[in-house]
Amino acid sequence: MNRVEFKNVTKYYTLLQTGGIKDFLFHLPSYLRGLRKNRILALKNVSFSVADGEVVAIIGKNGAGKSTTLGLIAGVLVPTEGEVVVNGRIAPLLELGAGFHPDLTGRENIILNGILLGMTKREITEKLEQIIEFSELGDFIDKPIRIYSSGMLSRLGFSVAVHSNPDILLVDEVLSVGDIEFQKKSIRKIYEFKERGKTIVFVSHDMPLVKELADKAIVINNREKLFEGDPKEAVKVYESL
Ligand SMILES: Nc1ncnc2c1ncn2[C@@H]1O[C@H](COP(=O)(O)OP(=O)(O)O)[C@@H](O)[C@H]1O
Ligand SMILES: [Mg+2]
Repeated sequence: MNRVEFKNVTKYYTLLQTGGIKDFLFHLPSYLRGLRKNRILALKNVSFSVADGEVVAIIGKNGAGKSTTLGLIAGVLVPTEGEVVVNGRIAPLLELGAGFHPDLTGRENIILNGILLGMTKREITEKLEQIIEFSELGDFIDKPIRIYSSGMLSRLGFSVAVHSNPDILLVDEVLSVGDIEFQKKSIRKIYEFKERGKTIVFVSHDMPLVKELADKAIVINNREKLFEGDPKEAVKVYESL
């Protein structure tokens, strides 16, 4: 069974702030034309699949389209062209802004997320302390997440994700945030998921880890898939860019 399938997926972002509100109100046709001009290509005609239980690394330079790929799998983003098929439950990709509310505290966001995932009050209470402890956010857990750094947000998102029970775990560069101890702990968690036969799609710049952890790696370069296959080969391709 395939957990994830991308069929000729192209994604454009549309920048909405052209011309401002006046343009929008009084020059609607030109405003709309302007919109089309400001489409940003983030992913071009990408196809691949992820089998059940497979661990797939996505590697590529900054701006290549890696996070966009994860966002499309998570359903946070919708493809402009092509099709994304996902089978199974995905851990919430909170750091992309899908499930987190900026005005709520870290703790409140965890609870809200649990409710949205259909967990009972008891399940949430049980998980809450584990998630908080894992995230190492200290006093920040009771502060609104809009004041969090991006690293803190990633840590909270990762903690929630690994304490939910997903079929597919998505990890976007969490392994490069936080201190060494947090990174080690996160890598251990990911190996735990792998041993349990979970499907994992992760983005990382840690090439030794990619070679060791992944069953398959996909190199994205300049919004296009450049390579898909053996992780060692993929790392070579990436390093030759
Ligand atoms: N929300 C957005 N609005 C407009 N452009 C975006 C947005 N997110 C990403 N992009 C652009 O899409 C391209 C791919 O970005 P991304 O998937 O975040 O790359 P990566 O994760 O590989 O660094 C980049 O050119 C980036 O600037
Ligand atoms: Mg990214």
